[in-house]
Amino acid sequence: MSSSNALHTSSLQSLPLLARGKVRDNYAVGDDRILMVASDRISAFDVIMGEPIPGKGALLTQMALFWFDKLQGIVPNHLTGDAPESVVSAGEAPLVQGRSMLVKRLKPLPVEAVVRGYLAGSGWQEYQQSRSVCGVPLPEGLQNASKLPEPIFTPAAKAEVGEHDENISFEQVEATIGKELAAQMRDVSIALYQAAADYALTKGIIIADTKFEFGLDEQGTLTLMDEVLTPDSSRYWPQDGYQAAFEAGRNPPSYDKQYLRDWLETATVDGKPWGKTAPAPQLPAEVIAGTAAKYQEALETLTR
Ligand SMILES: Nc1ncnc2c1ncn2[C@@H]1O[C@H](COP(=O)(O)OP(=O)(O)OP(=O)(O)O)[C@@H](O)[C@H]1O
Ligand SMILES: [Mg+2]
Repeated sequence: MSSSNALHTSSLQSLPLLARGKVRDNYAVGDDRILMVASDRISAFDVIMGEPIPGKGALLTQMALFWFDKLQGIVPNHLTGDAPESVVSAGEAPLVQGRSMLVKRLKPLPVEAVVRGYLAGSGWQEYQQSRSVCGVPLPEGLQNASKLPEPIFTPAAKAEVGEHDENISFEQVEATIGKELAAQMRDVSIALYQAAADYALTKGIIIADTKFEFGLDEQGTLTLMDEVLTPDSSRYWPQDGYQAAFEAGRNPPSYDKQYLRDWLETATVDGKPWGKTAPAPQLPAEVIAGTAAKYQEALETLTR
């Protein structure tokens, strides 16, 4: 731990460790549930930073729970409703409290369900090459951060650890999980995005894009899992400042990792620009504090 009160890596003794992701540590609870502990780790360009962001794990968990609650009418989700503290020793309860979800262990589908309402990141890159994203044709004349005529489903193949996710066509999704499930995943993803984006806009937040993950339960029912609609899995732009940035051709201001990414673009390691491979450059205190403040502001703005 390199910052007081921040958790870089959990090490619970009460439960067997299943896997560590970039952000979450997953522990097995029997063979049908998982305790997902959101650490304060942050990754950018798929590299995990050495320094944790204080408060981030708890904040992301609160935000995911907020959205699971709001969106439960659209599709079943992985929450069990049981308290995370109930499956660890009393001594370890404070380590999991506020930053964890006790979820159904699902069979993950190997597709990242990305929905875009705006053109940004890899979507903008692909559009400039092909006037389409993941095979979805788009009108001429769109710019970086343009609003799309309607939200589009732009799936990605789930990458192995250390690799980048790769955009794929809807036909590839059909070939991987079957036509029926692919259509259901697409329709549900767009409905979830639309409901969330509409709500966020009433709070002055643009959700430019987001990524959902789904799994199948023991009955084979499509179930929403992982984190949902956090600034780690989505682009969150304050509506204020969007138009001016868009017109000036700049990236819109954001509540998400863009602030850290922008700093990393300028960072040097041994006098050379950082090559976006591990190890990451050491984050200065003001970048840690600035990143924490962005996440905090996103949660406050969304839930006030
Ligand atoms: N209900 C669930 N059942 C099974 N696996 C789940 C469930 N919810 C989330 N997961 C998995 O738990 C992991 C969460 O960890 P984290 O988000 O830190 O990983 P990540 O770095 O995004 O990992 P990955 O590279 O595997 O996507 C992901 O691999 C996710 O697919
Ligand atoms: Mg993840």
